[in-house]
Amino acid sequence: MRERLAARNSEISSFYVMEFLRRAKQLEAQGKDVIHMEIGEPDFPAPPTIVDAGIKHLLTGEVKYTPAAGLPELRKKIAAFYQQRYGVTVDEQRIFVTPGASGAFLLAFGASLNPNEKLLMADPCYPCNSNFAILFGGKAKTIAVDASSRYQLTASHIKEHWTPITKGALIASPSNPTGTLISPEELKQSIHTVNSLGGCFYSDEIYHGLVYDTKATTALAVSNDVFVINSFSKYFGMTGWRIGWLIVPDEFIEATEKLAQNIYIATSTLSQYAALAAFDENTLAELENRRAEFAARRDFLYDNLLRLGFEIPIKPEGAFYIYANCKKFTDDSYQFALDLLEAEAVAITPGKDFGSHDAQQTLRFAYTTSIDKMTIAMQRLHRFINKG
Ligand SMILES: Cc1ncc(COP(=O)(O)O)c(C=O)c1O
Repeated sequence: MRERLAARNSEISSFYVMEFLRRAKQLEAQGKDVIHMEIGEPDFPAPPTIVDAGIKHLLTGEVKYTPAAGLPELRKKIAAFYQQRYGVTVDEQRIFVTPGASGAFLLAFGASLNPNEKLLMADPCYPCNSNFAILFGGKAKTIAVDASSRYQLTASHIKEHWTPITKGALIASPSNPTGTLISPEELKQSIHTVNSLGGCFYSDEIYHGLVYDTKATTALAVSNDVFVINSFSKYFGMTGWRIGWLIVPDEFIEATEKLAQNIYIATSTLSQYAALAAFDENTLAELENRRAEFAARRDFLYDNLLRLGFEIPIKPEGAFYIYANCKKFTDDSYQFALDLLEAEAVAITPGKDFGSHDAQQTLRFAYTTSIDKMTIAMQRLHRFINKG
């Protein structure tokens, strides 16, 4: 019998965190008080200014397709945001509004990746990236990184692993799962290395708003010859609205537009009108308060995990994750996370979701819940560790 399932499916791995989320929801349905530290989703809702803008537009009844690249006024506002936040000028024509950073990756890889080409990425990193590459017939070449490079790819990694079939390199700063940033100098070196090799540089800047003691540098401050992926999901608290953006080098504008037209026609019109309020002064003021709350949560969780005996070689500077080494307690972090969920109703994500390097000894804790809830989670974790 002819195989009907496409061969590529066997190469695509599950997003394990979703399995943990499903089990956590089942336990909740049975009446368990689950503390969610698994999913990368802020517990804050979208700011009221954004929700109001969405409702106002919905009531006009004019929810039609927008241009494939997005509402011109939203693209303009995104360009203005780069000017205001980073002092960087971006031509609006290079900006595409997308269904989340996920949609941005589909366009970026669709426009640039040929079958059999490889993309360099860090291990650990956000797991969907390598699966997007597979979707276009390409492949990720993951490179084990550790605290010595702040869990980021460096220019020397790129040089060492570059081959004739390498298409480019992808960095995410702050990183998911480690929350660590690439230094401005290293970012510059990496971009120059990739560009001098004739490749594409992809910069995932989805956690840029959520940086605590320092500032993130956008790849656009270094070069116009980069793909920048960003989103309204995290800093702007709009996960379920499915809206983000992609900035492409000039030569990719036409190809990206064609792909957007064909793949999804346009990003949700309602979400685009709502996002017009995302850069208002009131909205940004509220988001900055939330950022301060995330910083306090990070400090709380970092101190408590260290106290319990987890190892965290670098204090994360951004995103809302702590990637902790749990070798003191287990050499099977997947089983540890499963058992913790069943025994104590605390949901976290095993290292396996982010690669294979040290994955069995690592766990990702998301501080997307209140300090009050995390206080209870830490008590439960303490009990679990001491029972084991
Ligand atoms: C590093 C990173 N990139 C991209 C995404 C995709 O985000 P979205 O499609 O919701 O914008 C996520 C989501 O968790 C992420 O952590």
